[in-house]
Amino acid sequence: MRVLVIGSGGREHALAWKIAQSPQLSKLFIAPGNGGTGAVAENVALDITDHAAVVAFCQAQKIDFVVVGPDAQVVAGLGDDVRAAGFDCFCPSRAAGQLEGSKGFTKALCDEMGIPTAAYGRFDTEAAALAYLYTQGAPIVIKADGLAAGKGVTVAMSVDEAEAAIIDCFAGAFGQAGAEVVIEEFMEGEEVSLFVLCDGTDILPLTTAQDHKRAFDGDTGPNTGGMGAYSPAPVMTQEIYQETLDRVIWPTVRGLAARGTPYQGVLYAGLMLTATGPRLVEYNARFGDPETQVMMLRMESDVLPLLHATATGTLAGHDVVWKNQYALTVIMATKGYPGSYAKGSVINGVENAGSAHVQVFHAGTRRDGLRLLAEGGRVLNVTALGSSVREAQQRAYAGVDKIDWPEGFCRRDIGWRELARTGL
Ligand code: AMP
Ligand code: GLY
Repeated sequence: MRVLVIGSGGREHALAWKIAQSPQLSKLFIAPGNGGTGAVAENVALDITDHAAVVAFCQAQKIDFVVVGPDAQVVAGLGDDVRAAGFDCFCPSRAAGQLEGSKGFTKALCDEMGIPTAAYGRFDTEAAALAYLYTQGAPIVIKADGLAAGKGVTVAMSVDEAEAAIIDCFAGAFGQAGAEVVIEEFMEGEEVSLFVLCDGTDILPLTTAQDHKRAFDGDTGPNTGGMGAYSPAPVMTQEIYQETLDRVIWPTVRGLAARGTPYQGVLYAGLMLTATGPRLVEYNARFGDPETQVMMLRMESDVLPLLHATATGTLAGHDVVWKNQYALTVIMATKGYPGSYAKGSVINGVENAGSAHVQVFHAGTRRDGLRLLAEGGRVLNVTALGSSVREAQQRAYAGVDKIDWPEGFCRRDIGWRELARTGL
């Protein structure tokens, strides 16, 4: 199979790294890729927002299968355009991708299907949003309705903080994404993510992971795209897992199919494990970043046939096997992220950080001759396997410590919830 992966993050590096191991693969391209993906695929300088250019590349290169990574391309309907041109594509339709693209869409589906989630209101004026806030009080959660790169959410502990977030949204802090605001009930509990492949009708649950969204140790600082993750997340017991499939995943898959917009792709459920059971925080219509990095390291099965079966409605009968180990990834980001940061700093020592148990995935990196430069916010994902979360953590940080990059930073406590719970 000739495969094209779309994206340039650590998630796409991990997908490409895993797909590259498939016996079914004959040639792998990645567009645009990054400073690390060239080791496993051929980087292609394509403008992935130009769907006609992507289709033309598929035709010229006789691509059999396209795997779309980023949310922006899902929401923009790249999958629809690639399929319309006759290519198999792992990417939900634009219609089903609204699960991620519009929080209001997901909330309406939850209402319709009785999926447990936070109570909410949706507002298109500041006055109406503030009026609702005053009836609800704090703590409360303020969200820009559209895509805001994971940064459009404020968990406000006071009414003052909530007011400020609402005013910011309508003042354009998140651009068009903030033209409508969703105000949600605050849900108390531990967060966990569940990833499920769906082919429109059938599902194949993958596994769980726990992300670390805040920028700094102890879950402090601003929300980011994710500063580290581990998998599996034992906080999701077998019982909670089954309840999540029954009460959240299946009603979603059936609801979207009944509407005539079946979901084909990976369903990424962000869940809050509350005193009254698992409740949906949000859906994403693509793989998680950095959760994919830990999942791909743990996956024993060949990923390519699973992705292809998902995309072609032939998932029935497929199974997935995992290594009997934990994986943990630490994100190294440029100082300043998720705010503004400088580009172009030099990273040394990455080649020393990998080992039998450690894989370094690249995100915002670029090669400049022999030099490796930091080009983005999240830059490297040092990912390790271990027989416990503790061992995976130790191996990941041993890798981090071999990397010489004064302009970077990372959290030092990835995995802390599981370590605190078990003491292992
Ligand atoms: P989202 O982009 O919707 O995932 O929100 C980002 C983060 O904000 C989530 O991962 C949670 O940590 C937090 N959050 C979002 N909604 C709620 C809620 N209703 N209750 C408590 N925390 C929330
Ligand atoms: N890890 C958060 C995300 O992929 O949205």
